[in-house]
Amino acid sequence: MKLVISHVVALSNNNVIGIDNKLPWNLKTDLKHFKEYTSNKIILMGRKTYDSIGRPLPNRLNFVVSTSVNKIEGATVFQSTQESIDAAKQKCLEDHNYNEIVIIGGGYLFRETLEIANKLVFTKVDCEIEGDVYYPDVNLDEWVEKSSRYFSKDSENDYDFVVKEYERY
Ligand SMILES: NC(=O)c1ccc[n+]([C@@H]2O[C@H](COP(=O)([O-])OP(=O)(O)OC[C@H]3O[C@@H](n4cnc5c(N)ncnc54)[C@H](OP(=O)(O)O)[C@@H]3O)[C@@H](O)[C@H]2O)c1
Repeated sequence: MKLVISHVVALSNNNVIGIDNKLPWNLKTDLKHFKEYTSNKIILMGRKTYDSIGRPLPNRLNFVVSTSVNKIEGATVFQSTQESIDAAKQKCLEDHNYNEIVIIGGGYLFRETLEIANKLVFTKVDCEIEGDVYYPDVNLDEWVEKSSRYFSKDSENDYDFVVKEYERY
């Protein structure tokens, strides 16, 4: 089976993904989508994203990239992105319960792995917003849109948003 390397990210119209090491919005329905999409998969994140979440996420293999921290209870820490990707690939080879490596951020990890990703799961949040971490520019001409699901702003979701999946081969 083909190994999927995906990015799962929520981004504004101006590519903002974070501010002050937090998400810039409350989107409860998107968090539910995130949980559903990532469950039972390998999730790979930078140390700042791990800090921002504050705990290993249950029912997922948590891989964290860091040079400043070398041990996290409930997660595996790697000193470089390459090491973490190699270990995740090896896990998928050895254990057929896993066939997807989901990169969940943040800005550093997305930039470092855009080249090797073959799937993008974007939550496009319909706002222009201030932030300090951005998703890299991506040329969507290289990608095929596979699906889109629209959600409206309501009391639990600050903005309208659309979840779009893209693949490249
Ligand atoms: N909207 C979304 O979908 C989404 C998703 C995830 C995160 N976020 C947001 O993004 C922000 C965090 O992103 P960020 O870009 O600041 O940080 P990040 O990518 O989460 O983490 C950066 C850290 O990862 C480690 N790292 C990265 N590349 C490395 C490499 N090649 N070798 C070794 N270590 C490496 C370093 O940790 P050390 O400093 O420990 O060495 C680095 O400081 C937060 O605001 C968060 O809320 C948003």
